Amino acid sequence: MKYYFAPMEGITLYPLRNIHHEIFGDGIDKYYTPFLSAHHNLRFKKREKRDAMPEFIKGFENYDDVIIPQIMANSVDTFAWATREMWSLGYNEVNYNCGCPAATVTNRHKGSGLLQDTEYLDEMLDRIFNELGNEIGCADSDNSNNPGDGCKKISIKTRLGFYDEAEADELMRIYAKYPISELTIHARVREDFYQGKPRIEAFKRAVETYRNAGGKADICYNGDINSVEDAKKLLEVCGISESAMIAGNSCDNASGFSAIMMGRGLLANPALARQLKGGKALEADELRQYLKRLYDEYALYIPEERNVIFKMLEHWAFLHVHFEDNEKCLKAIRKARSKGEYTAAVNNIFASCKFI
Ligand SMILES: Cc1cc2nc3c(=O)[nH]c(=O)nc-3n(C[C@H](O)[C@H](O)[C@H](O)COP(=O)(O)O)c2cc1C
Repeated sequence: MKYYFAPMEGITLYPLRNIHHEIFGDGIDKYYTPFLSAHHNLRFKKREKRDAMPEFIKGFENYDDVIIPQIMANSVDTFAWATREMWSLGYNEVNYNCGCPAATVTNRHKGSGLLQDTEYLDEMLDRIFNELGNEIGCADSDNSNNPGDGCKKISIKTRLGFYDEAEADELMRIYAKYPISELTIHARVREDFYQGKPRIEAFKRAVETYRNAGGKADICYNGDINSVEDAKKLLEVCGISESAMIAGNSCDNASGFSAIMMGRGLLANPALARQLKGGKALEADELRQYLKRLYDEYALYIPEERNVIFKMLEHWAFLHVHFEDNEKCLKAIRKARSKGEYTAAVNNIFASCKFI
């Protein structure tokens, strides 16, 4: 099984990707950038483009196949332009966002808005692969769906539908027609946003439909994998042997998949992928080191100290679960307005609260 760090707007920016990779990177096979909007004037926002600039990548030996820029687009022209821009920066894979549930996005045939109009989606994909078809894959690859490292690829991140999971049937038949390298399925529909239990049975059926329709892309599961137990349950429902979590071929049944993408689970437990691969659980010392390195990296990225602290608070919103009876200490972290106050409060939580 492979493990991916999910794209998260405003969160999985290069400081986090660099530092997570530096300290816990062994467990993660791919890091996705938050979506980059491909605008009609064929420009990215400066801030978004900066996040993808290779000069800010630190410590990745081969970022080209490990960091995956994600594109948000509602026209072939903008998608093709953005994809070529990313390929020219050295990235081999780009991921097409067909899952974002925000209303400002969906009402313009973007994100999961594409799932609402399957005719439009089909036509988009048809035109995308006509336009870029000659540029994907490798000259010496005999499998255009699954070219190896170093080959240009287009992957997709989707949901099971807009209103209803029954929509997955038609969506999977559409996806199966195109040489997508990997299909990540967030096991919810748009109307669920990120709430409620993931629809694992519907995910399983969707993968079967995709395979029955001839779809050859690798499949990645996404949604609420926050612990080793969650992953075990997922594998059980999908009929995959538990040993596949650590290694092995997890694609040898009809609803098999070869990767799990995690977002909130990795924010709460940055060592989760390592643990899923059979390694040790998160330790207090490495969490401390991670927090320190993140602070330093954000300080280079964000000019004002207060805003660096606010950024760290986004992490503490997830990480506080590792400290027993943390209310008082957490309050002090939240109240900190200078680096000195923040550091003292963090030292205090490590000294006074039991690490769990
Ligand atoms: C704050 C936030 C920002 C997100 N930004 C993106 C994004 O830019 N692109 C995307 O495809 N998904 C985005 N997602 C969805 C995540 O990639 C992922 O699908 C979702 O969090 C469910 O996975 P999880 O349960 O492992 O967190 C975002 C989710 C959250 C909570």
